[in-house]
Amino acid sequence: MQDSFGRLIDYIRVSITDRCNLRCLYCMPENGIDLCGHDEVLRYEEFIRLCRIFAGLGIKKIKITGGEALVRKDALHLMKAIKSIEGIEQVTLTTNGILLEEYVDELVRIGINGINISLDSLDNSEYRKITRVGDVEKVKAGLKKALQYPRLKLKINCVPFDGDKQNILDLVALAQNNPLHVRFIEIMPIGEGKQFNYLKEDSIKALIEEKYGVMRFCYEKLGNGPSRYYSLQGFQGKIGFISAISHKFCHECNRVRLTCTGYLKTCLQYDIGVDLSALIRAGASDAMLENAIRKAVLAKPMEHSFLQKNISCEEQAKMAAIGG
Ligand code: GTP
Ligand code: 5AD
Ligand code: SF4
Repeated sequence: MQDSFGRLIDYIRVSITDRCNLRCLYCMPENGIDLCGHDEVLRYEEFIRLCRIFAGLGIKKIKITGGEALVRKDALHLMKAIKSIEGIEQVTLTTNGILLEEYVDELVRIGINGINISLDSLDNSEYRKITRVGDVEKVKAGLKKALQYPRLKLKINCVPFDGDKQNILDLVALAQNNPLHVRFIEIMPIGEGKQFNYLKEDSIKALIEEKYGVMRFCYEKLGNGPSRYYSLQGFQGKIGFISAISHKFCHECNRVRLTCTGYLKTCLQYDIGVDLSALIRAGASDAMLENAIRKAVLAKPMEHSFLQKNISCEEQAKMAAIGG
């Protein structure tokens, strides 16, 4: 599928639940969000049907996200079913890693193509401050187990806060000593993220170069998302940056999103999206759903305007339902 700006859309991010076992400061309020009702959340057969339709329209890569995808019962069955859809070449997962130790063997068995682990600090008290309730040792145990699978593509996601210098350097060392990539993400002003200042890519880069030497831009594509990667001498993995604000990447956007309640969002910002769930539950045929999807993709906005203060959207508050 192409949008009206000629961008090829072949990647969809699917949030399978808004539930999460953490409460990260930039994502959820302390007492959690108003969760979507059980009936509102798409059933597995609805996700599978939609993914099959998306595949027919040219989607080749699917990212499973949440909330925390692994807290949804039988999430692996769903991933396995999505993996077997004709035309789907890659299914990857983004997880907070708390349940990874328990599920990684099975994830490998079903043929998951990559796992991104959100890990904002290696230090437990710092990790606890950010996630409010998490135990970093669980994530480390999951990561250790995942590293036993040399063919599994692993990435670490860190959303750094101001003044996090040692924390950043410690996370960078993970890519020095292990075959994984470490990415730093600028906090986006969506929902809870609005309260924080993002740490700019350039200042993180300067900090890393001071300790580890010059970073060289890497032309190789290492995933389906917006990250740009750099290599460092002697490192096994690369350092990536997802800098939606200081290095906007909308011009090369290749993706749309399906929220856990079945809304198709063509940009992280703007609108609640097109309600595919209502169409399905009103008995829409595949052709009707295809038309609705094509129409939405043609209306995909050119870019986000995070810095434009007067744009607001209630749904933005629910990053966990959108899936990042
Ligand atoms: P891979 O590179 O294929 O592993 O995928 P990814 O980086 O897209 O996946 P991940 O779920 O790890 O997302 C990393 C960060 O990128 C999250 O903070 C997402 O919100 C952000 N992100 C992904 N796509 C977009 C996008 O289209 N726009 C913006 N602004 N942020 C995005
Ligand atoms: N800005 C940037 N990244 C965010 N994430 C969650 N909320 C935000 C935000 N406001 C990240 C998580 C996870 C990924 C899916 O999205 O840390 O790694
Ligand atoms: Fe959960 Fe991810 Fe939100 Fe953290 S960022 S509270 S892990 S959904």
